[in-house]
Amino acid sequence: MNLLWVVLASISLARSTFASTPTLPAKRFYDTHNYYAIEVNPHTPAGASLEEVSRALGVEVVEQVGELRDTWLVRRQKGEIFEREEDAEAFDPVLDTFRQLRSAASSPIYARSESALFARRVVSSVPFLDLQTPKQLEKRAPPPIRPPTRISNAETIKKFGLQDPEFQNQWHIVNDEYPEHMMNVTGVWDMGLSGKDVVASFLDDGLDFDTEDLKDAFVPELSYDFNAHVPLPRPTGLRDHHGTRCAGQVAARRNKACGVGIAHEAKAAAVRILSGPITTVDEAAALNYGFQNVSLYSCSWGPRDDGMTMEGANYLIRKAVINGINLGRGGKGSIFVFASGNGGKWGDQCNFDGYTNSIYSVTVGAVDYKGLHPGYSEACAANMIVAYSSGSGNHIYTTDRGTACTDHHGGTSAAAPNAVGVFALALELRPDLTWRDIQYLCVNYARQINPNDKDWEKTASGRMYSYKYGYGALDGYAFVEGARNWKLVKPQAWLHTKPVQLEGGKMEVLGKKKYKYYGGAPIGKGGIQNKIEVTRDMLREHNLETLEHVDVRVWIDHTKRGDVEVEIVSPNGIISKLAGVRERDDAETGFPGWRFMTIKHWGENPLGTWTIKVNDQQDPHESGKFLGWNLALWGSAVDSSKVTKFVEPRVDNALPLSEDPDRPIIDDPDLTSSTQHSKPTDYLPPDHGHAPGENSKPTFPSGEDNEGWISHLSGLVSSQKVFFGGLGAVTVFGMGALFFLWKRKADRQKKIAAYSALAAEDIGMENVPAGTIAGSGGPRTTRALYDSFGEPASADDLPRREPVLQPPTGRALGFHSGFLDDDEPSAGLTPKYRDEPEEPEHQPDDAVLVRRTPSDEEEEDDDDDEDDDEDEDDDEDEDESSESDNPTGSRDLLTPARR
Ligand SMILES: *[C@@H]1O[C@H](CO)[C@@H](O)[C@H](O)[C@H]1NC(C)=O
Ligand SMILES: *[C@@H]1O[C@H](CO)[C@@H](O)[C@H](O)[C@H]1NC(C)=O
Repeated sequence: MNLLWVVLASISLARSTFASTPTLPAKRFYDTHNYYAIEVNPHTPAGASLEEVSRALGVEVVEQVGELRDTWLVRRQKGEIFEREEDAEAFDPVLDTFRQLRSAASSPIYARSESALFARRVVSSVPFLDLQTPKQLEKRAPPPIRPPTRISNAETIKKFGLQDPEFQNQWHIVNDEYPEHMMNVTGVWDMGLSGKDVVASFLDDGLDFDTEDLKDAFVPELSYDFNAHVPLPRPTGLRDHHGTRCAGQVAARRNKACGVGIAHEAKAAAVRILSGPITTVDEAAALNYGFQNVSLYSCSWGPRDDGMTMEGANYLIRKAVINGINLGRGGKGSIFVFASGNGGKWGDQCNFDGYTNSIYSVTVGAVDYKGLHPGYSEACAANMIVAYSSGSGNHIYTTDRGTACTDHHGGTSAAAPNAVGVFALALELRPDLTWRDIQYLCVNYARQINPNDKDWEKTASGRMYSYKYGYGALDGYAFVEGARNWKLVKPQAWLHTKPVQLEGGKMEVLGKKKYKYYGGAPIGKGGIQNKIEVTRDMLREHNLETLEHVDVRVWIDHTKRGDVEVEIVSPNGIISKLAGVRERDDAETGFPGWRFMTIKHWGENPLGTWTIKVNDQQDPHESGKFLGWNLALWGSAVDSSKVTKFVEPRVDNALPLSEDPDRPIIDDPDLTSSTQHSKPTDYLPPDHGHAPGENSKPTFPSGEDNEGWISHLSGLVSSQKVFFGGLGAVTVFGMGALFFLWKRKADRQKKIAAYSALAAEDIGMENVPAGTIAGSGGPRTTRALYDSFGEPASADDLPRREPVLQPPTGRALGFHSGFLDDDEPSAGLTPKYRDEPEEPEHQPDDAVLVRRTPSDEEEEDDDDDEDDDEDEDDDEDEDESSESDNPTGSRDLLTPARR
């Protein structure tokens, strides 16, 4: 018997270590068995073996969970059937046995008894046990039909000898009408790149591997069907066309069928997970499926985009993602690409989705063929880039099931694969890029679009950032060119602060989605602020050289979650709005240790005071308390030799966080474990392909009643141009206000100037090429600007640093280009502002765009409405269509339709 276990364990060990092709997962029988994920730590001294644990819990081992070497799928025949998930868990014999073992293990009374010793051995080697309940993941797409717009791009066809009959409809590859708005990859094809043999895996509803376009791209060995538990991910359901369409965007071959993929010699694997409920074990396995050969995981799904869901990835999923980051692709890290979500019109924001706000995801929003922001595409501080997709009357043209092609693919679902295609091209050229290099390239080489959009703000590193567009539109040519000579970044380092508890704020986890909050500071008028100081010693101790992602974890109790607004202000005065109002979100569970993420501070010097502000709507019927928060800064290491790989901690959401690293999690407190058996619906508004987008609205307009708070300041600052424009009419009162602004801004400039002095001296990022951003985005920053708060060459340098107002070489603009400019009326009236194109002559196309808004779109809209009617049956989520009572799509993100 023992021998059997050894053999089993070594087989799976061998499989993850050496074999490149995953062994097929066993079929699941959810009707007759309960399944559990169990982590068994083999390194615990005197801990129990997997066999002993299984015997103690009365379960049989099915197999290792995906590529997680210490986690196993076990099962037990079902006993009593419970209607409700809570009851099933409360009376579950396996969880119950484990709870009993746990109390026996900690019981002082029978401490020396044999059973207590055994219990302790079992408990000490089982840090994680979780009942598996299949849940339904949500696709992010499917849309109405519209006759394709015929665009001739004859040149491209001729040049590449394309025979694909529908290529002229693929405006996302060549856009004749708005040539600046396309993935811009034909120049990359010209370099001879086509993504050859780079494998992208589509975690979706299957892939029709019999289609002409995809049959040669498909890799069966790296594919699996976790819905039907059969080896091939055949899309059998009527609506299972989503994965095939996404895969076509990337890997459709150059042939006589439909159009062509961006990386038309890439390989496509497919893991079917969206065509029915799946468990976290299967989701974890899917995210690592074939992860030595698969480079890119294309994920166009996530929690519901209904503006009222806040859902993360539970422990097992996070562990699988980190496993892919640490071990996937030979240690260079799997590249997870996530669609930002389609709930924009319902006020949803991608920071309420634990997949898109993960530091490990490249989060991709959508922009339409005119370069406008489509109302459905979710904005948030975790958005990294946008890619082209449906809106303003055009969809994405791609391969479909069977012999069909489709002209109505869209949503952020279609944006993510366009990014995957570009990444595949870059990986053919530079297979050595790590997951973080890909993110750096996105941040550095995305192209600013609609520079007059008020959503853009200049960050401390001199880049432009927008909640809607992230760092801009992904430009295939600029990205691949940037990758060509890219110097790999140093390994990742991080600094996690201890949670701050406000006024005795505490939280206990009572069960799934059940929390008890104690203490905390009531959120009154003006909100609550709190500060965390980051010192030079902290950065040194944590080996942190340059800043990339920032996680902000909050514990907030509130009677209406959607009323809560959260923002963080960096030491340099850069504000990241983490949570904006979500009118539809009535949840009473608050934010139980929810992790927000922002990439707006990328390259910033994190030294100094970080201020969080929590506010609500001051509704007399709703109230809440801010209990605590912490900050996690992620970036590059100073000393690569001291770096370790990040391990997902087994702490739960309690406040204060459990100090005991071995504390077993059996009531996984995370937010995703809910079962949801509804059919796959998406929250894409039915008019998503037709409604015109916009290019001027800030995602989070600063409220008038926010007097005194810094966000107000930022609103004023960004509209200062207007302010000065009306200078002639300014009254004495106005002059007073200007002086006030000037004073505040000047104070901020001092800080920023102090930082620029550091920037000039310490160059942390040699690998950031100087001022080489292609495209029309105005001046981007140079290497001297970035990331430079690292250790000085000699520690003696430190005290001698004086603020230097003159920007380092090559930095034409500086951040928030000084108030000094504004001081002179001429400067104040015109240039150097963040919502001002810096080099208008480089942006002719954008200028055209701005001019073309109203009239012709209204016309277009009328015929779109007709289309809507025809398309009714194609809308997957019919009850949603009534909500789209605003066909113009001009609805503000923050005032969504009510149910
Ligand atoms: C697109 O690619 C071309 C090269 O093919 C390049 O010159 C251009 O800068 C890129 N970007 C735009 C917006 O055209
Ligand atoms: C995976 O990669 C290995 C090593 O490059 C290769 O030998 C193997 O054939 C690949 N497997 C598949 C299914 O592509």
